[in-house]
Formats: sequence, C-alpha cells, structure tokens
Amino acid sequence: MRTYSWYTFFLVFSLIFTSLNISIASDPREWSPTWKLPPGKKPENIIDQDITIPGDVKKSQFFSPISCGACHPEIFKMWSGSTHANAWRNPLFQALYNLGKKTAEGESQKKNIESCVRCHFPIGHSSGETNLPLDDEKGGVICDFCHSVKATTGIGNAPYILSPGNAEAMEGGIKYGPFNDSPDTIHKNQYSELHTRSEFCGGCHDVSHAGNDLPIEQTYTEWRQGPYNTTDPKTTVHCQDCHMRQRPGFPCTGSTERPDNPGFASPEIMGGKKRPHIWTHYFVGGSVTPISLPPNSEVQPQLAVERLKNAATLELIVDPASKKGDLLKFQVNIKNTGCGHYLPTGLTEMRQMWLEISVIDTEGRIIYQKGKTDEKGTIDSKATIYHTVFGNEKGEPTLHVWTATHIISDNRIPPKGKKEEHFCCFLPSDVKPPLKIKAVLHYRSAPQDVVDALLGEKSMKLPIIDMAEVSTEINL
Ligand code: HEC
Ligand code: HEC
Ligand code: HEC
Ligand code: HEC
Ligand code: HEC
Repeated sequence: MRTYSWYTFFLVFSLIFTSLNISIASDPREWSPTWKLPPGKKPENIIDQDITIPGDVKKSQFFSPISCGACHPEIFKMWSGSTHANAWRNPLFQALYNLGKKTAEGESQKKNIESCVRCHFPIGHSSGETNLPLDDEKGGVICDFCHSVKATTGIGNAPYILSPGNAEAMEGGIKYGPFNDSPDTIHKNQYSELHTRSEFCGGCHDVSHAGNDLPIEQTYTEWRQGPYNTTDPKTTVHCQDCHMRQRPGFPCTGSTERPDNPGFASPEIMGGKKRPHIWTHYFVGGSVTPISLPPNSEVQPQLAVERLKNAATLELIVDPASKKGDLLKFQVNIKNTGCGHYLPTGLTEMRQMWLEISVIDTEGRIIYQKGKTDEKGTIDSKATIYHTVFGNEKGEPTLHVWTATHIISDNRIPPKGKKEEHFCCFLPSDVKPPLKIKAVLHYRSAPQDVVDALLGEKSMKLPIIDMAEVSTEINL
C-alpha cells in the first residue's frame, strides 16, 4: 500500500515535472534554476534581464588570456598558475564530467551534466559550441570572461550577462573592473560595482543541481549568512578581500592582516597609473596538487599551504582528574578562525579534513591513536571527516553529484564557529609519564582511492597538509 502511494506520487510528480519542463524550455533562466536576488542592498549591476545563453556570443569575440597579458603581464602571471586557468583542463574535473556524460540517466541527471561547462568553460558554454578541445586557450575561467561580465541576475549557477568586444575584428570592447578613472586603451573601461563585491564570485561559487535544485556548493550563501558579511560596506569582508589580496608572505585570511598591494595594473608605458591597491589574481583556496593547478603553477602551491595554515586553530583541554589505571579524558576544539565560509567549503563531498590524535608515553609506547593514514593513503576508518555526504535516489552515499538527490550529512565548521571533540582512553597502570598528547588537523583535496580510481595510471599521490597542531605533556 505504502509503495503504491509513493509510486503514484512519483508518477504525478514526474508528469508535472515533464510538462513544466516543456513549458519553460525556452526560458533563458533555465540554465540558472536557482536564480535569486540576495535581500538588502545589492550591486547596481545585478539586474533583472535575460542571462547569456548558448549561442548568444561567439568564442571568436573573446581575447585569449595571453593577449590581455601583453599589457597586464603581472596579472597574467598570477592568473595563469590558478585553478581558474585550469578549470577546463583539470583532470579530476574531466574524469568526473566524462563519467557523468557516459552514465547519467534521465532528464534531471543529464541536465546537471550539461551545466558543468557553464562554470568550467563559460565562454565555450555561452558560444554554444560543442567541439571544445581540452587545450582550448579560451578554456577555464579566463580574463575576458570575468571582465566582459556586464551584469548578473543574482546568485548561483552562473547567471551572467556577457558583453564582449570582438577579438576577430580587434575591437577591445568594454572591460568591467574596479576603477572609475582608467584611460581608454585598446579596450574601453567601465566601473562595475559587482566586481568589487562577493556577489560577483557568488555567481559561480554557489552551485545547485541543475535538474533537482539540490544545493551542491554553497560558498557564497555560507559567506552571506556568516559574520564577515556585516552588511555595512565599511566592515564587510568580501571574497576579494581574502582571495584577491593574498600574495607571498600575506595569507590574507580572517586571522591575518590583509594589507593593500600598491602598484600598477598595467606598466606605466602602457598607460597604467600608480594605484594604492592592485587586486591579486592568484585565486588560492585549498588546492595544492598538480591535478587541480596548471602544470606551470609555481607560486600557488606554497600560497595554498600558507592559506590552509591560517584557516583554523586547535585547543587541547585535558581532564585534570586523569590518572593511571583509570580513564584519560581530553577535548580538542577546532576553530574556524580564517575562512569567510564553512571549513571546508566548495567541493565538500570530495574534500577531507580530519584530526589525527596520539597519546604516547615517555618510552614511546602508543596509548591511543586515531586518524592515521596507511601507506595507500587511506584514513583510519574511526576518524571523523569534516565534509558533506550526498545521497542518491536509493539512499546510498555518492560522489557522483549528478545522481545526488539529498544531503546525508554535513559536519563542517561555520565561519568563526567551532567543533568540540571529546576523546577518552584507558591508561594502563604501568604507563611511564610524562604522557604526550598531540592533535594535528589535516587537509587533503580528495580521497586518494577516489582519485586513483578516476585517474587510473595518471593518478598521483595527493599531498596531506598539516593545517594546525597542538600538544601538551601531562605528568599524571
Ligand atoms: C574570476 C574572475 C577573474 C578573472 C579570471 C580575472 N579577473 Fe581581473 N579582476 C577580477 C575582479 C573581481 C577584479 C576587481 C576586484 C575588486 O575590486 O574587489 C579584478 C581586477 C582586475 C584589474 C584591475 C587592477 C587590479 O588588479 O586591481 C585588471 C587590470 C584585471 N583584473 C585584469 C585581468 C587580466 C588581464 C586577467 C587574466 C590574466 C584577469 N583580470 C582575470 C576578476 C577576474
Ligand atoms: C594595449 C594594452 C592593453 C591590453 C592588450 C589590455 N589592456 Fe586592460 N588595461 C590597459 C590599461 C593601460 C589599463 C588602465 C590601467 C589603469 O587605469 O591603471 C587597463 C585596464 C584594465 C582593466 C580595469 C578596468 C576598470 O575600469 O577597472 C581591466 C579589467 C582590464 N584592463 C582587463 C583587460 C583584459 C581582460 C584584457 C584582454 C582582453 C586587457 N585588459 C587587455 C591596457 C591593456
Ligand atoms: C565562471 C564562474 C566563476 C567565477 C565568476 C568565479 N569562480 Fe572561482 N572557481 C570557479 C571554478 C569552476 C573553480 C574550480 C576550478 C578547478 O579546480 O578546476 C574555481 C576555483 C576557485 C578557487 C580555488 C579553490 C581551490 O580549491 O583551491 C578560488 C579561491 C576561487 N575560485 C575564488 C573566486 C573568487 C574570489 C571569485 C570572485 C572574484 C571567483 N572565484 C569567481 C568558477 C568561478
Ligand atoms: C575571511 C577570509 C575569507 C573570505 C571572506 C572568503 N574566504 Fe574563501 N577561503 C579562506 C580560507 C582561509 C580558505 C582555506 C581553507 C579551505 O580551503 O577551506 C578558503 C578557501 C576557499 C575555497 C577552497 C575551498 C576548498 O577547500 O576546496 C574556495 C572555493 C573559496 N575559499 C571561495 C571563496 C568565496 C567565493 C568567497 C566569497 C563568497 C570566499 N571564499 C570568502 C578565507 C576566506
Ligand atoms: C555554478 C558553477 C559550477 C557548475 C555548474 C559546476 N561547477 Fe565544478 N566547481 C565550481 C567551483 C566554484 C569549484 C571550486 C570549488 C572548490 O575548489 O572547492 C568547482 C570545482 C570542481 C571540481 C574540483 C576540482 C579540483 O581540482 O579539486 C570538480 C571535480 C568539479 N568542480 C566537477 C564538476 C562537475 C562534474 C560538474 C557538472 C556535474 C560541475 N563541476 C559543475 C563551479 C561549478
């Protein structure tokens, strides 16, 4: 009886869904099903117009990054080592995308797979071209995509409106950016309030399933609801303040200084002015590996380590009543002190953050251990991983986002929030004090076995980064 009613519900639902789909097939917002405007004051160029859809623009209208680099050499160098530059070629992305293309079933899953290109090769998507080679120089999130964004319609699933020049005809068009006094050059310039605010990044850094609306990545929403968005322009810390100020020596997180970076956007001989602050274009997150970063990335791996090491702190509190022949109780607090969003954020079904705990006596005897990785890179199954787990229709956990229908669990740490973990072990009566209790917080971009399975022979060992560490000695 129960099965029957569910089945009826499913039938009715899919009927409504299919007819709805047909009726909105020509709606340009179809590509951006989560279209929404944040409440409160919004940038003046978040507008209520049709977004750019496949075929609206031609790929040949856009300039290649290297041609922008002719007059913006410093910015080009920073950007070319970034994950944005690699977003299309990225082997992990390609492996998942191709698996999805092969295995996606039904309208909803297929729709989601089609949407991948919109963020990972936005110019390819908007031009409607289907032959998009891996080494396409306009692949990934490139200069002339971001700076041809005239406006967006809101947050999530890439609701951008593009206004490019015409590279083929050597017409630079208008570049949208943070200055309101740039001299015209090969291109014209226009101030864009959107580019100076998190809402610009939130166009793509808020991803929902294109078929069933399940929230998949919520970085912007996490930021919007968190303490770094005070809604007062004087005190709000935007994505750009942490991610476009970072440079060697300045991690620019929530727990470190975020100083200005004076200099030139273009050399003086090209017409650039001396500016009190130039936004950096390294776009560093937690990715350290040559899978995520382009092969020529020199600075980013180190910057990512510096960023991760200034993202969280640990606190260790030991129960003073602990004694031999009895229980040792202690608590580790993980505090998200550096991120403007949850820790971790983004592709949180893949990312791994976990605590490694050890209690060792003075003769090196291991009293307690948790969270170690074996030689294959597999994490001790008793350890807690801070991440999101998606479930598919059958209720099974899945890493194939296109099959995801619900969230099974999410135990990540909110911005300026903390997690308290309690540990307890038996202290044999012959332990030799002092005991050393140590906790290390680790980060890895993805589970090693998953990457091995996806990349096969081309796989490589993913580095594990120590984000924070705390230890103490007790004498019992
Ligand atoms: C992901 C989008 C994105 C990409 C890709 C990108 N930029 Fe930017 N760029 C921005 C944003 C956003 C700002 C302004 C930040 C602010 O005001 O808070 C900016 C600022 C600038 C500026 C003004 C000077 C400065 O840095 O403050 C120039 C010039 C510029 N970008 C050129 C480039 C070039 C050249 C490339 C490619 C090599 C590039 N950008 C790639 C988003 C991007
Ligand atoms: C012939 C040289 C030249 C080329 C090529 C060039 N730019 Fe520029 N660009 C400049 C100069 C000069 C400025 C002004 C810098 C200043 O005001 O300090 C500028 C300013 C900018 C700004 C700031 C606009 C604003 O109002 O905030 C952006 C963004 C920008 N360029 C992006 C690009 C992109 C993207 C490309 C490639 C499609 C590109 N530029 C190619 C010379 C060039
Ligand atoms: C066109 C959509 C798009 C826009 C707009 C965009 N991003 Fe991204 N961003 C991406 C994609 C896609 C990736 C993942 C690339 C990869 O790893 O293959 C990414 C990666 C990143 C990363 C690296 C994450 C890591 O794991 O290391 C950071 C940091 C980042 N973006 C920050 C920003 C900021 C800040 C802005 C706004 C100024 C912005 N992005 C605007 C699409 C976008
Ligand atoms: C207060 C500083 C701060 C602000 C504001 C901030 N971030 Fe971050 N972000 C960090 C730190 C620190 C990390 C490194 C820890 C991590 O990877 O989770 C990070 C990591 C990331 C990552 C990589 C996450 C991962 O593990 O794959 C992305 C993507 C990202 N940020 C995007 C954004 C976007 C988009 C915004 C604005 C909506 C933003 N950030 C605002 C500090 C900040
Ligand atoms: C609305 C924009 C958007 C869409 C659509 C989108 N992505 Fe992404 N993707 C991102 C952003 C932003 C990041 C960076 C998050 C982070 O680093 O944690 C990212 C990161 C990734 C990464 C991580 C790369 C790495 O090196 O760690 C993979 C893999 C990926 N996406 C696969 C996909 C697949 C497959 C699809 C289609 C089913 C897809 N994405 C659709 C925006 C998007």
